[in-house]
Amino acid sequence: MRHIILANWKMSPSKPREAQELFNNIKVVIGRLRAVQVLLAPPALFLHSLAATYSGNKVLFAAQKISPHEGQAHTGSLSAQQFANSGASHCLIGHSEGDDTIDALRVKTFLALKYGLIPIVFIGESKRDNSGDYLLVVREQVLSALQELSPTQLGEIVFCYEPVWAIGQKEALSAYDVQSMALYIRKILVEEYGAATARKVRVLYGGSVSSDNIVDILKIVDLDGVAVGRVSADAEEFIELLKIANKA
Ligand code: PGA
Repeated sequence: MRHIILANWKMSPSKPREAQELFNNIKVVIGRLRAVQVLLAPPALFLHSLAATYSGNKVLFAAQKISPHEGQAHTGSLSAQQFANSGASHCLIGHSEGDDTIDALRVKTFLALKYGLIPIVFIGESKRDNSGDYLLVVREQVLSALQELSPTQLGEIVFCYEPVWAIGQKEALSAYDVQSMALYIRKILVEEYGAATARKVRVLYGGSVSSDNIVDILKIVDLDGVAVGRVSADAEEFIELLKIANKA
């Protein structure tokens, strides 16, 4: 099975030339790595020009943020349709550094699929509690994202479990905790939509993934890959991570 590696460059780099260099470095290596599929989420300004220089299939492009609106009267926004026409095949929805509400998960997931983008929906609690309330938070996020979808569309979704408190830290969640959450998410899907649909949905983990912890995380059977933030915007570190993931 190919591991999905989502590279979320966030707000870096600062210059178009640096974005192109970073991508060039990744391109040199990625063609040889059979067991990984990169989903690259660069800043919107750079997405089209990077996608236009690439003709392979080992990297697919993701929009970091789509507008919840259709139509034209939305100054400063970029629509799912514009991204789909500019080289993106995926989009991020609900990342905790954005401003998506729980209802935006529903609206944006529906819109993304309408215009041919595969939604990567970020879910995850902002803090853990002993009473297990965080599980209800995650459940509500999952169900909100899927609310308006047809049975066929359901199977196209990618969820990224990324607890907010695990972003930008020294260490990721333990592999055991990631596995428990991946299982929990699949359990919700089985209960609500049946086993066949639940099997099709892909689940990633995000939050402080690095070359030190990626082997343990990718061993988790219920997981299809990872989301990488900081490390993905550093060519050397990211290439090392990709090579390790390719052998995992
Ligand atoms: P991080 O970011 O890998 O730097 O923790 C992950 C993310 O925000 O998706």
